[in-house]
Amino acid sequence: MDVGRIRADFPLLERSFHGHPLAYLDSAATSQKPRVVLDALTDYYSRINANPHRGVYELSVEATDAYEAARARVARFLNAPDPSGVIFLRGTTEALNVLADSLSHSRLASGDHVLATVMEHHSNIVPWHFLRERSGVAVDYVDIDLEGRLRLEDYDRLLTPRTKVVTLTHVSNVLGTVNPVREIADRAHAVGALVILDAAQSAPHRKLDVQELGVDFLAFSGHKTLGPMGIGVLWGRPELLAELPPSLGGGEMISEVHLDGSKYREPPARFEAGTPNVGGAVALSVALDYLEGIGWDELRSYERELGDTLRTQLVDALGDRIQVFGPHRSEEREAVVSFALRGVHPHDIASLLDADGIAVRAGHHCAQPLMERLDVPALTRASPYLYNTRAEIDRLVEGLTRISHLFQPARA
Ligand SMILES: Cc1ncc(COP(=O)(O)O)c(C=O)c1O
Repeated sequence: MDVGRIRADFPLLERSFHGHPLAYLDSAATSQKPRVVLDALTDYYSRINANPHRGVYELSVEATDAYEAARARVARFLNAPDPSGVIFLRGTTEALNVLADSLSHSRLASGDHVLATVMEHHSNIVPWHFLRERSGVAVDYVDIDLEGRLRLEDYDRLLTPRTKVVTLTHVSNVLGTVNPVREIADRAHAVGALVILDAAQSAPHRKLDVQELGVDFLAFSGHKTLGPMGIGVLWGRPELLAELPPSLGGGEMISEVHLDGSKYREPPARFEAGTPNVGGAVALSVALDYLEGIGWDELRSYERELGDTLRTQLVDALGDRIQVFGPHRSEEREAVVSFALRGVHPHDIASLLDADGIAVRAGHHCAQPLMERLDVPALTRASPYLYNTRAEIDRLVEGLTRISHLFQPARA
């Protein structure tokens, strides 16, 4: 992979902070955008913008065609046989909320169980808490082992005929753990549960295949996948979506509205109330083209090398001053590296690194239950992506070494 050429595609990476070139190592929060994606947005709004599905005039037809082409592009990315399973929403959070709400009015009743995991992002916990509070649905959680991998034996214990939904993240946004989705989906289906996959942290790094994964629903966000903010995807098996009631009501999702009631359209329109983010959908499809143009295998092997190098260098440089979280085996994780530096609060680490032009994330990473499980108040996370260089990894390790010695000078 020619990283120099890739970096030249990302205008934001030319910026400097505090006199240092930016080393952007927070792509798990949001990725930077290549120029083709920025151009696609400008082009859409310069040439094609109109409200889709509404006008009979040529421009509106062009906007509709662009939107539906983006839907077909996402279906191809997911290896989904039918584009009607692809619903455009604002992102993973909205997708999971819409889905949980819709299921609560159709598939879930008081006393039913939802089985999540302790490593979920808040967006895959709080919507289920809503159901617990409002519908009496119970929520259980699969635990992790010492390396931050799901304890698969928990599924044997916690899956029961009352389990109606099994929901999990494909990749942990804190630990980097890649979960064995197919195996879990098969176990869930054996008790008749639906399987929901939060692919927010996997879509940026690997081609997804909903058929191979064996899941019923999947969500991801465009902005972590080189696309713009405000566009994301909920995919569902079309035959399941056809049975589900809408969650948001308004224009475009109805076939008829009368003062005493409404009838709804078939999916995907049923779940896309209001004017959609057509420009975002078009730009997301260009982002997927860009990633595919690089090659998923090349991308993954480069990212893995960056992640592995970072882990090794941190431990070599800092020894027992640092605790790095996540699975030990490289095959079991993505390049998300969360760590605790002994005696230094993560917010101090992130502020001091910022002074060196290095952007990392510090805090609970929208995974407070996981922080509690790991018994840490917060962690620092570096999440490299395709545009990061080995030199930036070196800068991070040097910066952390300096910070560690500043707070805890070596004893003479
Ligand atoms: C695993 C995971 N799920 C869900 C989300 C929520 O994504 P968004 O804020 O784009 O809706 C994130 C974002 O960090 C995430 O990492």
